[in-house]
Amino acid sequence: MNSCSSGAVDTDERSRSGNAPFLHQQNIIREPELLMAMITPSRLGRAVKWFITGNPAQRRRVRQELARVAAAAFGDFPISDDYKLWREDKQFLDDFNRMSPGNPYSQDRKWTLREYVKLSNALPGDLAECGCYVGTSAFFTAQASTHGKLYLFDSFEGLSDPDATDKDIDADVMPWTAGDLCTSEAVLRNNLAPYGDSIVVLPGWIPDRFHEVANRQFRVVHIDVDLYQPTRDSLEFFYPRLVKGGVIVMDDYGFKTCPGATRAAEELAATQGISILHLATGQGVITKV
Ligand SMILES: C[S@@+](CC[C@H](N)C(=O)[O-])C[C@H]1O[C@@H](n2cnc3c(N)ncnc32)[C@H](O)[C@@H]1O
Repeated sequence: MNSCSSGAVDTDERSRSGNAPFLHQQNIIREPELLMAMITPSRLGRAVKWFITGNPAQRRRVRQELARVAAAAFGDFPISDDYKLWREDKQFLDDFNRMSPGNPYSQDRKWTLREYVKLSNALPGDLAECGCYVGTSAFFTAQASTHGKLYLFDSFEGLSDPDATDKDIDADVMPWTAGDLCTSEAVLRNNLAPYGDSIVVLPGWIPDRFHEVANRQFRVVHIDVDLYQPTRDSLEFFYPRLVKGGVIVMDDYGFKTCPGATRAAEELAATQGISILHLATGQGVITKV
């Protein structure tokens, strides 16, 4: 049994959208002139024509534009480009939807992480994840990995206490609270059962169990604990243990919801004289050269 309270929330839905399950606080109708720029009479006329008589590509374009208008109407929500090849990978989407039902928000980050794992298969070393929740990112990591162990660190009691750094947020961001994102080790183990012995679960507060892997070397480390202290401790422990060419992928780096994680990464970068690759997905990546 774990000691989670009953209010466990979907990981990415809560963590990255500012803890609001559906619409943000920003659910205001945007300036009429912005909307009017999107809905000109000629575009509207063409949309109606294409929707009624168009070919499949034209009808798809209409659905795409409708989604953009809806997103613009309720706030500055990003609608990405259509027709990306990775969005056609049915196996990936099936796996994602099974692991994170009803929560599509971090598909791009899971895909990106899995690509880094595939690249790292040419390197020696193990893999680690700090903050695994129900195991979605760990699932894709294990799926792509060809060798080595995947060490998983999590309290299974949710987040630790946010400190002042974590609370340095804008008024339109919901603050983290201790115990958010709590799940049980049993749920994680069940989700990762297909990967058997390649998974090693080390429950506890970060960094209490790190010493058990102090003699290992790592090619991919995924850090996703949302807060300053565990992100800092994870970076300080794992950076020296990366093999040449190995990467640390930080899930929280580029999010206003996680200022502590951003700060911890920038402190490490300053101390080590290294750069952080800030991806459009919001992830931050450090490569050992
Ligand atoms: C955002 S979730 C991880 C999601 C997962 N990486 C995924 O993408 O599927 C954050 C996890 O970090 C864990 N966590 C947060 N602070 C921690 C700490 N100080 N020590 C150990 N685990 C912690 C929480 O229990 C939670 O499971």
